[in-house]
Parts: sequence; structure tokens; C-alpha cells
Amino acid sequence: MASAPRMARASVSPAVTAEFSSDVVVGLSHAGQKELPSKYLYDEVGSALFDVICLLPEYGLSRAGMRLLQRDSHEIVSLLPAPVLVAELGSGSGQKTRLLLQALSKRQRVNYYPIDISGSALSRCQQEIGQMDRVSIVGFESAYLDGLQEVAARRRDEERILVLFLGSTIGNFDRPAGDQFLREVRRILSEGDALLLATDLEKPIEQLLLAYDDPAGVTAAFNLNLLARINRELGADFDLRQFEHTARYDECERRVEMHLRSKVWQRVTIQAAAQRFYLREGETIWTESSHKYSPPAVVEMGERTGFRCAQQWFDAEWPFAQNLFFVV
Ligand code: AVI
Repeated sequence: MASAPRMARASVSPAVTAEFSSDVVVGLSHAGQKELPSKYLYDEVGSALFDVICLLPEYGLSRAGMRLLQRDSHEIVSLLPAPVLVAELGSGSGQKTRLLLQALSKRQRVNYYPIDISGSALSRCQQEIGQMDRVSIVGFESAYLDGLQEVAARRRDEERILVLFLGSTIGNFDRPAGDQFLREVRRILSEGDALLLATDLEKPIEQLLLAYDDPAGVTAAFNLNLLARINRELGADFDLRQFEHTARYDECERRVEMHLRSKVWQRVTIQAAAQRFYLREGETIWTESSHKYSPPAVVEMGERTGFRCAQQWFDAEWPFAQNLFFVV
């Protein structure tokens, strides 16, 4: 008889597991809509699946961001104060950042500080950027705002800071939380510092739903992996075959929501938390929101949070904007 496959276990610190467990329990205990925080989509498997999503023809967001930096990096750099150091919130693969750093390094030596909670993301970024001429890189393995605070403490008197937030991740915050986050960024910065913020723009609903529910099922796998991760790390018994991925658009909130719908009435046990949860047939767990913006709404978001918009650049193929703000 074939033996059961061994469970792949990442080595995770007890404190991190405790926080994960508590967030899962809180989200699944909601009296109304059950929820799981979207940050937990990105374990090693989830991050790899997200990289594949970025290659899908239906998901034009990352390619749009890339095209804009290919086309506009020199113009962006021409608007920046000198000298400027670069702090990036979320290091990503480093591919987009490379384009901007290349343009900036023609003008000055660049100190580049990627900030990411994931050590493996930082290593990938180091591989992409580490060999660039006239660019030195120091990564911070920390939460965005903690890392940014450390970077700000290192700046020399005459140096300005350019903060990059390129992945359109601002869209994954609820709108009030997004504002709050930008206010916190602003609080750490000083007059003359800049923020380059990427935002995905409003577009036809059919296009958005295909982008978040692709026919090849990659986004479905990305979403379902969250349950698989809870099984792996918290000893839960979610049966993934009894859930299906759905994407829906909320027209009032102008956001795509990802949910996992229970196909049957079922009971789930989470060993690490010693808790049991029940799902009705058709009930969903809300796992992510992706807010979309109009160009003026992005300008207003900056103005509400202590910035002035200097310029916006738009992609012709996929409605998407790079927005350069200065601290006021
Ligand atoms: C990371 N973030 C900007 C992506 C988005 O489009 O909101 C995450 C994603 N979720 C499903 N597909 C992509």
C-alpha cells in the first residue's frame, strides 16, 4: 500500500503561527461574512502562484506597470530632487524597480532600500538589482512602516527620499485603511520627499472579472492555497474540493472581491486553535479586495493624506497609472 504523502511544513516561528492562528479564528468567527486577511495569501506557494498570475493574458496589471516604467522612468527621474535615496515598500521581483534605478543611476549614485516582510522576496530582489552599476542595496526584512522609519533615520542631511509603492498593493487595503497607511508614510517623510504610487484604474467589469477568475484557474489555485496553508501551518482539515473560487465586482465600492464558496454544509477543525467552524452550503469566505480608482480619485487620495500630485502617467493598453506625489 502506498504511504500517505508527507505534509510539507515551512519552519515558522511560534509567535508568527500564533498571530496567524488568531487572525484566522477572528475572521472565521464573524457573525455575518466570514473573512481571512489577504496578506496570508502570500506564503511560498501563494507567491509563486501570484508570479504566474502576472504572466496571464487576462491579468494586465503588472505588465502595464512595467510598460509605464519602461516608457517614463527618465521623465520621472527628471522631476525628482537630488540627491535622492530610494525606499521600496514590498521588493517584488525587482524587475520594475530596475528600470527606475537604471534611469536614476545615470544622474547619481543610488542607495536603494527594499523593505519586505519576506526574506525570500528580498533575496530575489538582491539577485535582480545587486549587480547594477552605481547602485548599492540594503534590504530591510520588516513591516513597511518600520522599515521606512529605519531608512529615514539613515538619510544624510541633504538627501531626499523617494518611496516606491509599485505593485498597486494600495488597492488591497480598504479605502479608509489605504488613507491611513498613506498618512503614516507621510508622517515618516519630510518636505520635498516623494512617493511614486501605482494604482490600477476602473475598467469594464467583464475585463476585471476575467482578470480575477482566469480560465486556466491560476487565480482559483492562488485563492484556494490559503485554505491549504491553514491546513499545513495550523493543522486544519479544510477539504479544498468542497470550495470554489469566485470573483465578484462591487460597483458601489469599486472593487473586485475574491471569495471561497462552500459547496456543501461542512465542519472544519483548526487544531492549532482548538476551534471548530461550520459553513453553510453557498456561504463564502471573503479573502481579498482589489480596489480600482479613477485618476482624479488618486489625486484626491494623495491630497487627503498630505501629498500633492506632481504628475500621472497612464498605460494605453490596460487602464493603470503611475502617480508621482510630493510631500506638502
Ligand atoms: C497584489 N495585488 C495588487 C493583486 C491585485 O490585483 O489586487 C493581488 C491579486 N489577487 C488576485 N490576483 C492578483
